[in-house]
Amino acid sequence: MSSASSIVASDRDAYFDDPKERRRRHHEADVLIVGAGIAGCALAVAFGKQGRSVLLLEKSLKEPDRIVGELLQPGGVQALEQLGLRDCLEGIDAIIVKGYDVIFHGKHVQIPYPTDGSSPAPEGRSFHHGRFIMKLREAAMANPNVSVVETTATSLITSSHTKEVLGVDCISGGSRDCFFADLTVIADGYASKFRREHHPYTPRVKSKFWGLELIDAELPVPYHGHVVLSDSPPVLLYQIGKHETRALVDVPENLSAASVKVGGVKGYLRNTVLPSLPRSVQPSFHAAIERGALRSMPNSFLPPTTNKTLGLIILGDALNMRHPLTGGGMTVAFNDVVVLRDLLSPEKVPSFADTKLVMKQMYSFHWERKRFASVINILAQSLYSVFCADDPNLRVLQRGCFQYFQLGRIEGPIGLLAGLVKEPLVLFWHFCSVAFLSIWCLFAEAPFHQLPVVVLRSISVFWTACIVIVPYMLSEMKR
Ligand SMILES: Cc1cc2nc3c(=O)[nH]c(=O)nc-3n(C[C@H](O)[C@H](O)[C@H](O)COP(=O)(O)OP(=O)(O)OC[C@H]3O[C@@H](n4cnc5c(N)ncnc54)[C@H](O)[C@@H]3O)c2cc1C
Ligand SMILES: *[C@@H]1O[C@H](CO)[C@@H](O)[C@H](O)[C@H]1NC(C)=O
Repeated sequence: MSSASSIVASDRDAYFDDPKERRRRHHEADVLIVGAGIAGCALAVAFGKQGRSVLLLEKSLKEPDRIVGELLQPGGVQALEQLGLRDCLEGIDAIIVKGYDVIFHGKHVQIPYPTDGSSPAPEGRSFHHGRFIMKLREAAMANPNVSVVETTATSLITSSHTKEVLGVDCISGGSRDCFFADLTVIADGYASKFRREHHPYTPRVKSKFWGLELIDAELPVPYHGHVVLSDSPPVLLYQIGKHETRALVDVPENLSAASVKVGGVKGYLRNTVLPSLPRSVQPSFHAAIERGALRSMPNSFLPPTTNKTLGLIILGDALNMRHPLTGGGMTVAFNDVVVLRDLLSPEKVPSFADTKLVMKQMYSFHWERKRFASVINILAQSLYSVFCADDPNLRVLQRGCFQYFQLGRIEGPIGLLAGLVKEPLVLFWHFCSVAFLSIWCLFAEAPFHQLPVVVLRSISVFWTACIVIVPYMLSEMKR
């Protein structure tokens, strides 16, 4: 071989070894991420910063227009900061969130986020989901180790003999395409196409959130999320921009007050929800109903699982979902990315081609994420049952819960909700306290001669409390 041709050959090797060229020409990377949403973008940046070659595939790079993921809890803001992505909250007209205002039949309790002594005090942010996503995508595109490609993933490519995942088949602009990597991460959201074959559970949907955008609404407490509790299911209100406020109205399946006979969801909003809202919000809520353009999203519950397919990771809503009442989804996703980044760092896993090592680390991931994810999952599901209160025992617990807040027992519960207190036992403790307070109230109110009835009633309430929390605790203990 002449020296000239060997120079050419080594040039060509260098060319093929350039990860960016490999991604562009050969569609090959260390890691492939399907879905440039909350989880996918954050993970792409985290891996990119660690020097991995990343392909991030997204079916539409246009700004999303959705009613989801609009309030980021302080625990999510902190995780975003740990990922070096806090800037993504700037320049999107985001609103500071300092805590919640819970309104129970017209009575208010203000619940500020706890100050953990650190400064600045923990704060949340609320915003238009699409604007935040565009910032996250910009951050991914700005990293030279990440290539973002607009394409729709259609199926996984697996090795016929080891069953390992090797990449994904895609459709881009009508033509077939494929992408390959040592590791494939599925982060395609709540309706995940790829979950079915690799996740043993299916999402359970008991209600939908119907979203309205209020213009120049006057919220009772500025810079706070509002939860409105009445005889109907809960309503959330929070500002998402200088002029815009999101209202999310929970409508359980088969809610009789929203049946077609009585005017459907629109009738329900007008006849039942509107009068239950704070007076100052009613004009803008009414105007939003009149403008129409109602949108809904299913509120799903999906317990997490360990993955058993080599070469594959499932993340975000594709892996694990809880009722959005407590606005915890993005906080779980960002905290997951922090844990995953550390468990799969180049020091611990030099190459993603070592799929057995990756799987071992993912087993640790499953248990390590429980600190925060379990708290948020269990809290969201049990609080939803209590706030929806569709039976008399639950109404006793709902009132007990509000009284618990009125007594000033707020720092623990809000710390859990904010994603700042990452201790499942603290949640269990507060839940038990609420149950016992509710039962104590039954006794305190009843005349002495009704004592036997109240004893039976309290056993029944206690049993309901167990049903509200225990199944969700058990679901967190599964592999
Ligand atoms: C009504 C409602 C309100 C909510 N409110 C909040 C809240 O206030 N705060 C909060 O923290 N969480 C909230 N959540 C939850 C939160 O929205 C999710 O947890 C979060 O968006 C999950 O992020 P993800 O990355 O898993 O999915 P997504 O952010 O949905 O991203 C998935 C991405 O994958 C892309 N994709 C899908 N299929 C393909 C494919 N085949 N090929 C390529 N790309 C694909 C999609 O286009 C999308 O960009 C809410 C959820 C609901 C339902
Ligand atoms: C990209 O990867 C290289 C290593 O391949 C790393 O040194 C660099 O810091 C990464 N760039 C960014 C912006 O994270």
